[in-house]
Amino acid sequence: MRIGVLASGSGSNLQALLDRFNLGADPAARVVLVIGSRPGIRSLERAAAATVRAEVLPSALDPAGQVAEEDEPFLRRCLAETEVELVVLAGYLRLVPAAVVREYWGRMINIHPALLPSFGGQGMYGRRVHEAVLARGCKVTGVTIHFVSEEYDRGPVVAQWPVPVLEEDDASSLAGRVLEVEHRLLPAVVSAIARRRVALAPDGRVRWTGSLFRTERFAAVPGEGWTIEPE
Ligand code: GRF
Repeated sequence: MRIGVLASGSGSNLQALLDRFNLGADPAARVVLVIGSRPGIRSLERAAAATVRAEVLPSALDPAGQVAEEDEPFLRRCLAETEVELVVLAGYLRLVPAAVVREYWGRMINIHPALLPSFGGQGMYGRRVHEAVLARGCKVTGVTIHFVSEEYDRGPVVAQWPVPVLEEDDASSLAGRVLEVEHRLLPAVVSAIARRRVALAPDGRVRWTGSLFRTERFAAVPGEGWTIEPE
């Protein structure tokens, strides 16, 4: 399956995908395109290092607009030219134009560093998510991967994984443990989608062939104390 990644920052999740599919041994998928929301970001360097086509949004230098008009045809053209079959938003902070969301419905996923529908929505990204989790005294947070709909962080949930909140956590330590899980969950979910183990049912629920929790490889993923035994 041909993967296009949209990224805004460091791109550590992009790297996890490149490591598994482009530089590693999983033949199910391949990153063929990376689009950065502005020039000079680490994600673009990672794409270049893996010899993947890298592009920058044309509106990148316009600090005002969230969705600039010229982004829509640009995104569509790049995705079509590289024959992308699955779009992955990996730390992408811009709003995807509605027409692109509609065109890639069921074929575009986003990774969010909390258990949606809690701690999502506009403005809930990066450190703010973890600060909000700590402020509410939550004992468990985690990672959510969902299909992208026109509303921020609201599309059908594909996969989630828990991360315990420890007494001594601050936003940085929590972000670090959540990110570790992101780096494992995202490539596993992309591989499962590429292997057609995941389907978006007409009722809007995502169905798995063989639950994520029953995948042996996954039993070791979560942090301290969160081993889920395979059946
Ligand atoms: C991750 O926490 C991701 O969940 C969120 O933004 C962060 C991106 O990190 N959407 P990176 O750019 O992949 O390193």
